[in-house]
Amino acid sequence: MSGHPGVVVHHDAVDACRQLAAEIAAGIRQRAAEGKRLVLGLATGSTPIPLYGELIRLHREEGLSFANVVTFNLDEYQGLPADHEQSYHTFMRRRFFSQVDLPLHQAHLPGSMVAAEELQSHCAAYEEAIEDAGGIDLQILGIGRSGHIGFNEPPSSVDTVTRLVSLDPITRRDAADLFGGLDQVPMKAITMGVGTILRSRRIALLAWGEGKASIIARALRESPSDDCPATHLHHHPNVTFILDVAASSQLNGSQ
Ligand code: GLP
Repeated sequence: MSGHPGVVVHHDAVDACRQLAAEIAAGIRQRAAEGKRLVLGLATGSTPIPLYGELIRLHREEGLSFANVVTFNLDEYQGLPADHEQSYHTFMRRRFFSQVDLPLHQAHLPGSMVAAEELQSHCAAYEEAIEDAGGIDLQILGIGRSGHIGFNEPPSSVDTVTRLVSLDPITRRDAADLFGGLDQVPMKAITMGVGTILRSRRIALLAWGEGKASIIARALRESPSDDCPATHLHHHPNVTFILDVAASSQLNGSQ
């Protein structure tokens, strides 16, 4: 099981998300027609916001129902109450869950304040819940400037599973503005592992803007290594990097 990620470059993020949302909608409708569920792996950060916007539009204007969708988010900070402004629980509720008809008991995120003695069982239960749901059909990913996917910071190996991790200084600096200062950014998070992500049947990694151009070039060009966890996606047979022109600008047309 190996290949090289496909790369699709769109004019802009809105354009890219319209196409990806159409693919998701087709998957949801096909499963609904079969009386089955579609399992989506979801991401946070600024990158997937236009995707959620387009899915919400499809729900409101074109009657797309999420009643047969099950979701698993990649990650969550540790030490924030779930209703904290910057928790991923809050992000998902505001940006997506509250605006569509996804039954809330079908939406999963790792806990945000998991006690030390419960960490191991909490993470194992998350893995089990994904398996019980039949595995993830489509995993949406962003990418951090450290090369992380989810919160799998360097070094993260290909066989990692859902676990507690320490955040990279680059990642914490990138989050400082949102949190109102570096000292407010959590030190730790729970994330699906690289291995968890690679078990998804299909993966779409999204990146927009010049700020992502150099890490996208590394992620596509470098051989798989724990130092740039996104390179482990090369091991997956069905992964597409969905980029805008700016994020693809250091690929020099050779992809
Ligand atoms: C966070 C998330 C990642 C996300 C990354 C990039 O660290 N845990 O899942 O991909 O940020 O964020 P942005 O999309 O805002 O650039």
